[in-house]
Amino acid sequence: MKIGFGSDHAGIELKLQLMDYLKEQGHEVVDYGNYDPDDRNDDYPVPGRKVAEAIYNGEVEKGLLVCGTGVGISLAANKVPGVRACVCSEPYSAEMSVRHNNANIVSMGARVVGRELAKKIADAFFNAEFEGGRHARRVEMINQIEEDYRNK
Ligand code: RB5
Repeated sequence: MKIGFGSDHAGIELKLQLMDYLKEQGHEVVDYGNYDPDDRNDDYPVPGRKVAEAIYNGEVEKGLLVCGTGVGISLAANKVPGVRACVCSEPYSAEMSVRHNNANIVSMGARVVGRELAKKIADAFFNAEFEGGRHARRVEMINQIEEDYRNK
């Protein structure tokens, strides 16, 4: 799978570790930044938006985002239509976010999860498949909210 990666300054190290790990697992990895470790010059909405837009444009299939908590960067990504980014701190939610919610971005907090747990979360997310059926109806209802506001 082709996966887009993004992080702010707080997540650079974990993002690079996860890129190496997922590449070893056979995935194609694309880095959308950021690259500046200085908190004063580096804002999480930038990489959150870039990875989300890469999914929107079809450049990558799914994404992995990292900031301090995983929260801010996922909030930014979720503003792009069709993007469903979930903050996950354990593998069960990561797996179910794909199986039931058709999530296309997993977001993690580098100040929340350690490297080995982050790998398990990534495995659970990227190995899961959307189940469709009644879950598709609910995901479609989420899409409809975007549509309703686009036309206002
Ligand atoms: C940066 O200090 C921190 O606010 C950011 O990485 C992230 O946790 C925001 O949600």
